[in-house]
Amino acid sequence: MESISMMGSPKNLNETFLPNGINGIKDASKITIGIIGSGDFAKSLTIRLVKCGYHVVIGSRNPKFASEFFPHVVDVTHHEDAVAKTNIIFVAIHREHYASLWDLKHLLVGKILVDVSNNMRVDQYPESNAEYLASLFPESLVVKGFNVISAWALQLGPKDASRQVFICGNNVQARHQVIELARQLNFIPIDLGALSSSKEIENLPLRLFTLWKGPVVVAVSLATFFFIYSFIRDIIHPYVRNQQSDFYKIPIEIVNKTLPVVAITLLSLVYLSGLLAAAYQLYYGTKYRRLPPWLESWLQCRKQLGLLSFFFATVHVAYSLCLPMRRSERYLFLNMAYQQVHANVENSWNEEEVWRVEMYISFGIMSLGLLSLLAVTSIPSVNSALNWREFSFIQSTLGYVALLISTFHVLIYGWKRAFEEEYYRFYTPPNFVLALVLPSVVIVGKIILLFPCISRKLRRIRRGWEKSQVMEETGGTVPHLSPERITVM
Ligand SMILES: Cc1cc2nc3c(=O)[nH]c(=O)nc-3n(C[C@H](O)[C@H](O)[C@H](O)COP(=O)(O)OP(=O)(O)OC[C@H]3O[C@@H](n4cnc5c(N)ncnc54)[C@H](O)[C@@H]3O)c2cc1C
Ligand SMILES: NC(=O)c1ccc[n+]([C@@H]2O[C@H](COP(=O)([O-])OP(=O)(O)OC[C@H]3O[C@@H](n4cnc5c(N)ncnc54)[C@H](OP(=O)(O)O)[C@@H]3O)[C@@H](O)[C@H]2O)c1
Ligand code: HEM
Repeated sequence: MESISMMGSPKNLNETFLPNGINGIKDASKITIGIIGSGDFAKSLTIRLVKCGYHVVIGSRNPKFASEFFPHVVDVTHHEDAVAKTNIIFVAIHREHYASLWDLKHLLVGKILVDVSNNMRVDQYPESNAEYLASLFPESLVVKGFNVISAWALQLGPKDASRQVFICGNNVQARHQVIELARQLNFIPIDLGALSSSKEIENLPLRLFTLWKGPVVVAVSLATFFFIYSFIRDIIHPYVRNQQSDFYKIPIEIVNKTLPVVAITLLSLVYLSGLLAAAYQLYYGTKYRRLPPWLESWLQCRKQLGLLSFFFATVHVAYSLCLPMRRSERYLFLNMAYQQVHANVENSWNEEEVWRVEMYISFGIMSLGLLSLLAVTSIPSVNSALNWREFSFIQSTLGYVALLISTFHVLIYGWKRAFEEEYYRFYTPPNFVLALVLPSVVIVGKIILLFPCISRKLRRIRRGWEKSQVMEETGGTVPHLSPERITVM
């Protein structure tokens, strides 16, 4: 395969690597990209580069062995040969092995070295890996980037993978070439300036579950609260009042009183944030005013809140299905039958109870079905197959329906017991009453937003209409708008 050799001084790099300037590579097949190393990252990057039309040359310590793992169009060769064939080289080996490239120093003068490495710990070394590479090869142009993309994500299509890549480097031209390359590979490059930002970039992938932290803390706090609450009401209360030991209820019954309340509360929190955002936009009459930071963070972690709600709901279902399997349930059932015989009651059929249970279980199942649909569509490969309207219909409309149905599930489960004094142990309301508070607020809020006069105004705001424009036209005062942020819905 023909390849363009891109040797030369940094001055003419732009002309040789990007024949059409940095604003567009028209013919990627004429460009050779080098990769040092033949590991997981090198393999995945090669696939992405080849798919986008680049010619790839791999530099390996053992090219014969490594060539088996690459498509036949890829040139797998020795380090010296590889770096001689290209001007832009991805260093896809671990930091500990950088020094092994020392012998290539003279061949690397004026060439772009892209450092893709990550570390095991935050601030593992005094200087970043990229700065270390730059200190080893001061006459090369080191650019940091692509490290936030996993080898797995590199192989996926652009819609499936997390698309942002952070790039920095001291040589502006070299940095821009790597930025343009990232763009050509369907990533969204983010320019972080000089190489001093590389430490920050290297620490990024080490931040674990950033969007999950808040939702997990909320879920665990709610679970702890409701577990203690149920324990006091259902275990301590009978023990204090009647010396009745119900401690056997802890592993299943108390847990199954905790999980569903957390599930429905988290589900309500998902939609409450959207309602608050809508109220804010209605109040200020614009969608261009910046939301309070706490609300923005809340909106950003709705997916995580929703998935946690789904998790709690499914575990609740598994527990619920196991309720009749328990030995305690069988003893209670036998005792009840015995007492019934004693009391000479032949038929204990209670039509209202029968309907109550049939209905609440049915609503529970429907709600879980819808939540499963939401969970499935949050998988990147599924949601990339949906257009925006389909995704929004499932996530927003069907999500609200799921919340409504699960509220019916709880409402019918509680039924008249919400009004019976014996259920208010230690003067506290039963779990299902607490479980209904937030969903009811959200449903009422949503109904208010659906009033034609309000929904019309909200629709106009979302299309870009602003109250301030009208006030300006009519001579009123203009509220403060932050021009730096525009919410695209
Ligand atoms: C199992 C499960 C899985 C889920 N998976 C996902 C998922 O993969 N992805 C996902 O995004 N959500 C997911 N969610 C959360 C939720 O379903 C969606 O976020 C849904 O679109 C919310 O609908 P909504 O009508 O409340 O919000 P929206 O229609 O998005 O918004 C309502 C209001 O908030 C305003 N608003 C929203 N975001 C902003 C913002 N950033 N800035 C300013 N205003 C804003 C809008 O203008 C509007 O007024 C999931 C939920 C569950 C239960
Ligand atoms: N894997 C990922 O998801 C991922 C994501 C982001 C960043 N990264 C970064 O990419 C780099 C490579 O990661 P990887 O997962 O591809 O690692 P890997 O699978 O272990 O591959 C590393 C490659 O380095 C070469 N190598 C091994 N020992 C060497 C030595 N002593 N001297 C010189 N070369 C040696 C080998 O290639 P040869 O045998 O062909 O010489 C090997 O295939 C790392 O810096 C990593 O932090 C990886
Ligand atoms: C297949 C689906 C479902 C089944 C079979 C089911 C079953 C049950 C059962 C048997 C109970 C009574 C538990 C008890 O006696 O202690 C219950 C209660 C409850 N369920 Fe479900 N459920 C389902 C789905 C859901 C979903 C999706 C949610 C919420 C998102 C939910 C929320 C609740 C709540 C809040 C209670 C009241 C808990 C209490 O006060 O003790 N359920 N459900």
